[in-house]
Amino acid sequence: MTAQLLTNLTTKTNLAKLPRHVAVIMDGNGRWAKQRGLPRIEGHRRGAKTLKEMLRYCKKLGIETLTAYAFSTENWGRPQGEVNFLMTLFERLLQKELKEMEQEEVNLNFIGDLTPLPQSLQQEMRRSTERTKNNRGVFFNVAINYGSRHEMINACRAIAKKVQCGELAAEAISEDTIAQHLYTSASSDPDLLIRTSGEMRLSNFMLWQLAYTEIYVTDTLWPDFDGKQFDRALESFQQRDRRFGKV
Ligand code: IPE
Ligand code: IPE
Ligand code: MG
Repeated sequence: MTAQLLTNLTTKTNLAKLPRHVAVIMDGNGRWAKQRGLPRIEGHRRGAKTLKEMLRYCKKLGIETLTAYAFSTENWGRPQGEVNFLMTLFERLLQKELKEMEQEEVNLNFIGDLTPLPQSLQQEMRRSTERTKNNRGVFFNVAINYGSRHEMINACRAIAKKVQCGELAAEAISEDTIAQHLYTSASSDPDLLIRTSGEMRLSNFMLWQLAYTEIYVTDTLWPDFDGKQFDRALESFQQRDRRFGKV
């Protein structure tokens, strides 16, 4: 099945219809662990492997950008032990995977307010973005302490300051002005959003950028989301008629 779909996808016509930018809300790690009688953190550990495989698959198919929601501004409300585990996991992953990401030509970026994160994690983030900034194999954005509303507040403040000091006229504010002040200013808007674990909501993710994104929700829990599942999402995307408000 996977091989067959992959063959379909790698024909010229289908490759032309691939999304340029895929965003993913990686949800269901806790439920995956619970189903197996494991602690929630085990689900996060497995989820990290899934993300690594998905990134590799995106590169193989020629998808330009993958954006993954790893930690929301609301996730600080989880038990302290789980939050601490996630922060340590992010840091360890960066240390462990940087070399391979460099070899694979991954251009790594973080979106979100990074300032409240542990100093040692911020240092790893700076190091990894610096080391991968010239890579063009695949663009990989990881959303950590990301919240769309927070992102918009920041954008409003920055734009307001420009207006206040006379650098920008209020009438000149356009969609582009706003897009340029978001964390995602360097990326195109996502073409496809995948959410795992069946929840039909955005949970404060990329509210501006997802205006015309095709949405795919699967009941599969994130640690179980494999290449076969991704093929299904891509197939579904290829069958959509993207009208952008036209006829
Ligand atoms: C997603 O899985 C990972 C993060 C939000 C960090 P969850 O931890 O939300 O898993 P569920 O939704 O509780 O199953
Ligand atoms: C969304 O998942 C955030 C991430 C995947 C990082 P949540 O599990 O936090 O979302 P809700 O609480 O179900 O809306
Ligand atoms: Mg969840």
